[in-house]
Amino acid sequence: MKITIITGSQRKNSNSKFVGLNLKEKLDQNFSDVSVESVCLYDAQIPYWDEDKYSDKEKWAAWSKVSEKLAQSDAFIFVVPEYNGMVPPMMTNFFLNADQGELSHKPALLVSVSAGINGVYPISELRAYSFKNNKVCFIPEHLIIRNVNDILNKEVKSKEKDYINERIDYTLPVLVEYAKALKLVRESQAVKTDKFGFGM
Ligand SMILES: Cc1cc2nc3c(=O)[nH]c(=O)nc-3n(C[C@H](O)[C@H](O)[C@H](O)COP(=O)(O)O)c2cc1C
Repeated sequence: MKITIITGSQRKNSNSKFVGLNLKEKLDQNFSDVSVESVCLYDAQIPYWDEDKYSDKEKWAAWSKVSEKLAQSDAFIFVVPEYNGMVPPMMTNFFLNADQGELSHKPALLVSVSAGINGVYPISELRAYSFKNNKVCFIPEHLIIRNVNDILNKEVKSKEKDYINERIDYTLPVLVEYAKALKLVRESQAVKTDKFGFGM
C-alpha cells in the first residue's frame, strides 16, 4: 500500500513540511506494508491552473510527475496550514489540477497546522467543497496541530503534545483501514467514472 503525504505550505522551511516528515516517520516505523511518498507543494512548483495544462507538456511537467505519484497511491495525508483563515492558494490549485481521477474514491486524512490556537478553517474549507470533482474521500477523523512550534520542538514537553501524539497514533491506523476498504470500492463495478466524471 502506498500513502502520499502532500504538504500545502507556501513557505520554504514550513512547519507543515516538518509535520509531514514526522507523520512519514511514524508510518515508516509502524506499518511495514505501507510505503510513503511525500509531495511538498512549495518544492514541486506546480503552475497555477490555466488552459495550457492540456497542451503544453513542458510547462506542466511538474504537475505530470505529481499526478503520476497520486495515481499510484492508495491514500493521502494533506498537511495544510491556515493562512488568514483560509487554505493556501497552492493547496487550492492542487485540488483544481487533480482532475484525472488521481484521487478518486481514495481516502485522505486532513491535518491542519497553526502556530497559534486556530487551524479549524482549512479543515472546514476542504471538507466543504474541494472533493467535488476529484472525488477524494476525506475520512471523518482529522488532526489539528495547534501551537505547532512547541509541538515540533523536541525540548518542549507538555500534555498537549502527549495528546497530539496519542491522537496521531490513533488516527494513522484508521486511515490505513480506510485505504484497504476503499480499494474494494474502486475495484467494484459500482464506480463509473467514465459516465459520471463530475460530482453534482
Ligand atoms: C500568510 C500567512 C497567513 C497566516 N494566517 C494564519 C491564520 O489565519 N491562522 C493561524 O493560525 N496561523 C496563521 N499563520 C501562521 C501559521 O499558522 C504558521 O506559519 C504555521 O507555521 C503554519 O504555516 P507553515 O506550514 O507555512 O509554517 C499565517 C501565516 C502566513 C505566512
